[in-house]
Amino acid sequence: MPHTLLDIIKQNLPDASPDARRLFHGRGQTVAGLEAVTLDWYPPLLVLTLYADFDEKWLQQLSIGLQQLFEKRLGCLVCQQRRTAGGGGRILYGRLPEQSVAQENGLRYLLDPLAHQNIGIFPDMAVGRAYLRTIAEGKSILNLFAYTCGFSVAALAGGAKKVVNLDMNRRLLERGRQNHRLNEQDLRSVVFLGHDLFKSFGRLKREGPFDLIILDPPFFQSGSFSALRDWPKMLRRLPELLTDSGELLAAVSAPELGANFLRQQIDSAFPGAQILARLTGGADFPEQNRDKGLHLLHVVP
Ligand SMILES: C[S@@+](CC[C@H](N)C(=O)[O-])C[C@H]1O[C@@H](n2cnc3c(N)ncnc32)[C@H](O)[C@@H]1O
Repeated sequence: MPHTLLDIIKQNLPDASPDARRLFHGRGQTVAGLEAVTLDWYPPLLVLTLYADFDEKWLQQLSIGLQQLFEKRLGCLVCQQRRTAGGGGRILYGRLPEQSVAQENGLRYLLDPLAHQNIGIFPDMAVGRAYLRTIAEGKSILNLFAYTCGFSVAALAGGAKKVVNLDMNRRLLERGRQNHRLNEQDLRSVVFLGHDLFKSFGRLKREGPFDLIILDPPFFQSGSFSALRDWPKMLRRLPELLTDSGELLAAVSAPELGANFLRQQIDSAFPGAQILARLTGGADFPEQNRDKGLHLLHVVP
């Protein structure tokens, strides 16, 4: 029975704000038995993500319980089952609106709730997007591993002069272009490069130098990125892309890595680097092991 989960959510029901929120972060391992569950609120949409198999009866009981808790506020409940072959989301209750969006501090990001795996925005990175907005003014920024350009949208909202987004997946960059349009941002200040980072340093040098480089790579992506091998390789190449006073905003968020890994990478590539800020996912993302979860460093290398 999903009683424990429903009780926790009942204590943590969102207010009437249109902003996205993580309502349950089981991945942080603070609740025994629910380590494989997260629940995100993108009003009026709830997205339940399961990283293990749960039986149908459990799912149906949870769905009914959530409908009772949210009443008319709930438009649609989608379940993302990461362990199921083929993946993708399925609707447990209600109907999807024509366009699903995540709102965050007045900015909007497109969602594809039925997509295979990641649906368009990483909720835990909200803290990073908010922070970037406060430091972006007047800066020329390189956004590596841009995904759907969430950082780029936040940087422009914070007054960035230019943002170059690089991601090897062009379809995601196209979604990024749509995200800028959705926020009525001037696309003349944004560049989209659909290339593999490790084959693009020449091109990036021609676009630079940059005042700030954002790094938020995956832990492992077959054939394209492997954290232990590629973090040192990537960091070595960054000074040639930075202005003399250039800065980095570097992130890890995989359960396999943590604050110590990130700090070691920075210290060994840039001995004497100055740390301007350290960020974690915040109150909606509690972690049993504080080294784990999202960690961001704002660094002068
Ligand atoms: C964790 S996501 C980045 C999330 C993003 N920073 C955000 O906050 O929305 C990782 C991205 O890295 C891209 N990627 C992986 N290896 C790459 C490589 N070698 N060159 C360029 N992009 C790569 C993937 O396509 C994926 O979109």
